[in-house]
Amino acid sequence: MKQVRITGVGSYLPERIVTNDELSRTLDTSDEWIVSHTGISTRHLAAPGESTGSMAIAAAKRAMADAGVKPEDIGIVVLATSTPDHADMPATACDVQHGIGAVNAGAFDLIGACAGFVYGLEIARGLLQGDGRPALVIGSERMSGIVDWTDRNTCILFGDAAGAVVLETCDAKGHQFYGSVLHSDGGGADLLCRTGGAWRDPEGQMVRPGSVHMEGKPVFNFAVKAIPRIVTELAEKHCIALQDINHIVAHQANFRIIDAAAKRLEVPRERFYLNLQNVANTSSASIPLALDQMDEAGLLKEGDLILTVAFGAGLLSGGNLFRW
Ligand code: UT7
Repeated sequence: MKQVRITGVGSYLPERIVTNDELSRTLDTSDEWIVSHTGISTRHLAAPGESTGSMAIAAAKRAMADAGVKPEDIGIVVLATSTPDHADMPATACDVQHGIGAVNAGAFDLIGACAGFVYGLEIARGLLQGDGRPALVIGSERMSGIVDWTDRNTCILFGDAAGAVVLETCDAKGHQFYGSVLHSDGGGADLLCRTGGAWRDPEGQMVRPGSVHMEGKPVFNFAVKAIPRIVTELAEKHCIALQDINHIVAHQANFRIIDAAAKRLEVPRERFYLNLQNVANTSSASIPLALDQMDEAGLLKEGDLILTVAFGAGLLSGGNLFRW
């Protein structure tokens, strides 16, 4: 079987930066509370006219340029998002496929919330083994459009962004992409969800769009256990010692979640990349955005072993293990 590897990465952050102090002008909160409970100081928020699709296009173009891949060579566009630009159809991935000029590609949306990117990467890996043409995997979210800006329990947590990677086959002998683990616990679906939506429910009632609802404590407890479980499962499955993993790129939801997970795993916290202080929780964009910023900062060396781990609405969790 051909090996698969990430050959390009790119991201997009809206220009507007919103500080905790700015939020506290209209909300009963404070910089002190937000920083001490989450680690978040600022987030980027999309301007009017900036959409999940337009951010995804910007990130995808950068990832293709980084990989040196032409749009017409892309075989599939996988867009992980919980904030599509259209109600149900068409898929926002089709706008992205058109916007980047990937004229020979298929395209689809994947609703995996904060775990969407790790799901997308594994699905694209499978498709690539069959098709052979480069795959684009994108996480893009305009969370600012679906949070309730009067709910201090949730709105302070999120930001807008997009991240993308190009995945290609390669001739390397050793493992480049070891594999992934994907889990779901639908029993916790009510803990983190978007209430409502513009459709008729099973009783025939028209449901109007709602906003993000989250029960913070149980989701926190789920996340603190999910990270060590995924990391251990992936490492054991591929006979990798935890100390041989160069970077653990966890979904950026809360500094305290990452800190507690690092302690449980007895892995130095420095091995976990952190950018949530500047970008907050960007859901499915979180991991590819982190990978791009790590690459930009020169933190990723050829051959580095990277483990991604994500958790969120579903409750979904999962991770990928690959070499850079
Ligand atoms: O990406 C998907 C995955 N999502 C997550 O992983 C998020 C997981 N959950 C969390 O990160 C944390 O539970 C939160 C950051 C959401 C909340 O932190 P917490 O330490 O669990 O706080 P809490 O919900 O227990 O709230 C403590 C107090 C409450 O006041 P009372 O009832 O004790 O008087 C809240 O009303 O803090 C209050 N509070 C706030 N105060 C100021 C909640 N949000 C705020 C706020 N500013 N923004």
